[in-house]
Amino acid sequence: MTKKAALSASDVHLFYGQKEALKGITLDCYENEITALIGPSGCGKSTFLRTLNRMNDLIPGVTITGNVKVNEQNIYAPNTDTVELRKKVGMVFQQPNPFPFSIYENVVFGLRLAGIKDRAVLDQAVEKSLKAAAVWDDVKDKLNESALALSGGQQQRVCIARVLAVKPDIILMDEPTSALDPVSSAKIENMMMELKQDYTIVTVTHNMQQASRISDRTAFFLNGELIEVDKTKNIFLDPKNQQTEDYISGKFG
Ligand SMILES: Nc1ncnc2c1ncn2[C@@H]1O[C@H](COP(=O)(O)OP(=O)(O)OP(=O)(O)O)[C@@H](O)[C@H]1O
Ligand SMILES: [Mg+2]
Repeated sequence: MTKKAALSASDVHLFYGQKEALKGITLDCYENEITALIGPSGCGKSTFLRTLNRMNDLIPGVTITGNVKVNEQNIYAPNTDTVELRKKVGMVFQQPNPFPFSIYENVVFGLRLAGIKDRAVLDQAVEKSLKAAAVWDDVKDKLNESALALSGGQQQRVCIARVLAVKPDIILMDEPTSALDPVSSAKIENMMMELKQDYTIVTVTHNMQQASRISDRTAFFLNGELIEVDKTKNIFLDPKNQQTEDYISGKFG
């Protein structure tokens, strides 16, 4: 069976001013898989992740060449609606970033922006998204309380629910568990494995155990280059490249 690439980056170069942070990245991420991006600090993982929903557009002085296709459409085409794109390709950050509103209003934020007012529609989206983000039981009795009053792990899951509520196809996660305790991290890992049944996930992690536990495919970045990408099992048990082997065995990084 040939899998379908939900996301396809080809020859992506990115410069911050004169500095080339991505040196020609070609990578496919497949539907219903978790792709993990690994590599030492500063190798370009977050930069690459941001090219997948044009978040780098917001940074002054950035030049990008190459292309990224989402569901066969080049997202760098001039007529791309980046607001729509970022609904299709949602993003979760390292630090939970709930808005200073109620849990309910956090989850419906994108729906309200889209002009949806029907209370029943909003209520249903809240329940469904919080359930999918595995935080419904924690918060169902306090939906009108501030999201800021939740624990970090709960906040992160509410932020994930906020992304899910706008029905993305692809979810980008930049070290989503690195600010969390092991129990909260495990909940998010389990949730990610559930979510991949319905979504395509691309995640950055410094945690090798996490990459090997949850990802289907692992991509190793070094100095702005993609050194090796393969099924996760192959990367961890039988890497083809010496630098990959040195990194995963902890010789550097
Ligand atoms: N806004 C920016 N302006 C200028 N240079 C940047 C910017 N963001 C990142 N860089 C540089 O681009 C390179 C890649 O950074 P990036 O944040 O993508 O690395 P990373 O692999 O995510 O690292 P980490 O594991 O520490 O998060 C680094 O050299 C970094 O200093
Ligand atoms: Mg980063």
